[in-house]
Amino acid sequence: QPSNLQMEGNSSLRRADCRAKGGAPGFKVAILGAAGGIGQPLSMLMKMNPLVSVLHLYDVVNSPGVTADVSHMDTGAVVRGFLGQPQLENALTGMDLVIIPAGVPRKPGMTRDDLFNINAGIVRTLCEGISKCCPNAIVNLISNPVNSTVPIAAEVFKKAGGTYDPKRLLGVTMLDVVRANTFCEVLGLDPREVDVPVVGGKASLLIDFAEETEYLTNRIQNGGTEVVEAKAGAGSATLSMAYAAVKFADACLRGLRGDAGVVECAFVASQVTELPFFASKVRIGRNGAEEVYQLGPLNEYERAGMEKAKKELAASIQKGVSFIRK
Ligand code: NAI
Repeated sequence: QPSNLQMEGNSSLRRADCRAKGGAPGFKVAILGAAGGIGQPLSMLMKMNPLVSVLHLYDVVNSPGVTADVSHMDTGAVVRGFLGQPQLENALTGMDLVIIPAGVPRKPGMTRDDLFNINAGIVRTLCEGISKCCPNAIVNLISNPVNSTVPIAAEVFKKAGGTYDPKRLLGVTMLDVVRANTFCEVLGLDPREVDVPVVGGKASLLIDFAEETEYLTNRIQNGGTEVVEAKAGAGSATLSMAYAAVKFADACLRGLRGDAGVVECAFVASQVTELPFFASKVRIGRNGAEEVYQLGPLNEYERAGMEKAKKELAASIQKGVSFIRK
C-alpha cells in the first residue's frame, strides 16, 4: 500500500509541475473522510470538476486504495492520498476548500443527535488541523449532526486565535434542497426547473409550498430516515449526499473564482433570527458566505414550523458550543 501511494504521489507531482507551467487554473480541494460512503463518490465527482486542479483525499483508513482508483480517471485534477492523523497536516496545507464527510452515519432508530459523541471529537480534531494549516480555506461541513458540528468548528477556530471567519464556515444542507426539488414531482414539477429554498437547520426546516405542504414538509424532514430504513443498518444517504455536496462545493468554487450571483442554502453564522446559526439562502463569493439573506414574509404554517425548528436548533447549537467550552 505505501509504495502505491508513493507512486501516485510521484506521478501526480510531475503532472502538477506540468500544469503549473501550462497553467490550467483551478482550486485545491481536500476531502476529509474520503474513503467513506459519502467520501468515495464525492471524491470521484470532485475529480470530474473542471474547477479542481489538486484533490487531496484524507482518511484514517483505505485512502490509498481510493486515491489509486480515482487518480486513474482521465480528468485534469491531480490526486494525492493521505492516510492517518500524522498525514493530516500535509493533506490540508495550501487548500482553498476543505470538505468534511468524516464520521459515523446513522443506523435505523438513531437520531442525528445520537452521533454527537463520536462525530464531535472527529470534527474537533480535523478543524484544529484546518486552523493550523489552511486557516483561510472555505470549509464545507457534512458530518452530522450539522446543527452541532458547525458550532463546534466555530469554537475550535475561535480558540485557535484569530482563525475564525464566520463567512468561511458552511454547514452543508444541500441534500434537503435536492430532496425538496425532487419531491416536488407531486406538484407536477420537473426537479430540474425548481429550486426550493429550505431554511432552519439540518432536518428541522420549513419550506414554502402553496399546496401539499404537509406531505412535502414531512417527506423532506424524514428523507434521511427514509434512506436509513431502506438501507437497513448499512448506513445513511451517501450517493445523493455526494451529489448534493458536489453541487454545493461547485457553488463555493464558482464563488471563489469571483462569479456573480452564486446563491445556495447553507447552515451559517447568521443574524436572520436570534440564534447564532441558521440555514437560509446565502450569496457565495470570494470570501465565502458574503451575504446571508432574510427569510421574507412567512405564512402561519411557516411561522409555527419556525418556532418548532428554533427550539430544536437552539439546543443543538448549545450542545456543540459546550462540547468545546467545557
Ligand atoms: P461512513 O462511515 O461510510 O464514512 C465515514 C468515513 O469517515 C470513514 O471512511 C471513516 O474512516 C472516516 N473517518 C472516521 N474518523 C475520521 C477521522 N478522524 N478523520 C478522517 N476520517 C475519519 O459514513 P458516511 O455515510 O460517509 O457519512 C459520513 C457523515 O456524513 C456522517 O456523520 C453522516 O451522518 C453525515 N451525513 C450528512 C448529511 C448531510 O446532509 N449533511 C447527509 C448524510 C450523511
